[in-house]
Amino acid sequence: MAPNGGTVVVSDIKLEKLLCMKGGKGEASYANNSQAQALHARSMLHFLEETLDMVQLNSPDVPFQVVDLGCSSGNNTLYIIDVIIKHMIKRYESSGLELPEFSAFFSDLPSNDFNTLFQLLPPLAANYGGSMQECLSTSGHRNYFAAGVPGSFHRRLFPTRSIDVFHSVFSLHWLSQVPESAVDKRSGAYNKKRVFIHGASESTANAYKHQFQTDLAGFLRARSQEMKRGGSMFLVCLGRTSEDPTDQGGAGLLFGTHYQDAWDDLVQEGLITSEKRDNFNIPVYAPSLQDFRNVVEAHGSFAINKLEVFKGGSPLVVDCPDNAKEVGRAFANTCRSVSGVLVDAHIGDQLSEELFLRVERRATSHAKVLLEKLQFFHIVASLSFA
Ligand SMILES: C[S@@+](CC[C@H](N)C(=O)[O-])C[C@H]1O[C@@H](n2cnc3c(N)ncnc32)[C@H](O)[C@@H]1O
Repeated sequence: MAPNGGTVVVSDIKLEKLLCMKGGKGEASYANNSQAQALHARSMLHFLEETLDMVQLNSPDVPFQVVDLGCSSGNNTLYIIDVIIKHMIKRYESSGLELPEFSAFFSDLPSNDFNTLFQLLPPLAANYGGSMQECLSTSGHRNYFAAGVPGSFHRRLFPTRSIDVFHSVFSLHWLSQVPESAVDKRSGAYNKKRVFIHGASESTANAYKHQFQTDLAGFLRARSQEMKRGGSMFLVCLGRTSEDPTDQGGAGLLFGTHYQDAWDDLVQEGLITSEKRDNFNIPVYAPSLQDFRNVVEAHGSFAINKLEVFKGGSPLVVDCPDNAKEVGRAFANTCRSVSGVLVDAHIGDQLSEELFLRVERRATSHAKVLLEKLQFFHIVASLSFA
């Protein structure tokens, strides 16, 4: 709620103060609705390991520092940091080098539920800093120092040349803001009647594309200062296979169909005005491979070791695919876990509840098609200094 008791228009306040996945451990929380991301990340581990194999090993007296950007809250980030550090330990051991100490930074926007994340963090091995062999054999413990770093990855977060590995998955498609022109009635890019760019006009899509390019350029600029010379970066974000940005692929099906229809229901039922709906836009852009490549090449600091579109699979993880109700609920919970916080801020908790009930109802009646058609593609990039 805004201080005056009314609800706020998302575009009125800085998105980065508000944006986060749904915290806690409830039914619609990100922690409980990110199994698909976990599966997709596991299917890309071989790409991640290729990136890690390129990282230069430090002398043992310099800490080895790893960052997960857009870590969110839940087990996914803990799993991946564990994979990265274990892989690097193996590399040190097979090179016959003494192990350095490891630090992991969990970074996300300030509203992220760091509390839930820190509660999930295993304890530091009691003998950390003593014999590494003993420490590694202490199961259920972590073999790295941990810290949370709040802030936007579109800007600086770390000291110059301090980081060996940057990892960021399923986060870079989030824009730093909804392009102003998309919510400006006087603009040709005004996204009238829509809450996402899937199926929008070319000028709205171009405004989103421009915002994505600006944001990714800011991200690369910051990392080019923070990464150590021999470091590497592994980046994954939602992507699309079509050249046309008004076809947002899997993201388009998620936010451009039943979700859009549910917003329209609220308008038709007189629960919100059409203007209220039009003022809400999902700040996500799924780039094409070329969109991504153009920004990296224009920036110029990074060599592309790998850049490809990878089929990630469905965001819906269900026990009984034949149970339409379960599919509908999974769809609504997926939408809610990633956009619920923004919706609550825009129309308040009660109307948000109404919206997601309608999303669930609509998705339930299209369960079969959703299971068949809802597939995510990801842009996978491995970068190091040119
Ligand atoms: C879908 S979650 C991905 C979480 C996690 N990487 C995983 O694999 O499950 C996207 C995360 O990106 C974060 N995010 C979005 N924009 C960001 C920004 N500008 N700076 C830092 N984090 C951001 C969101 O807050 C959210 O936690």
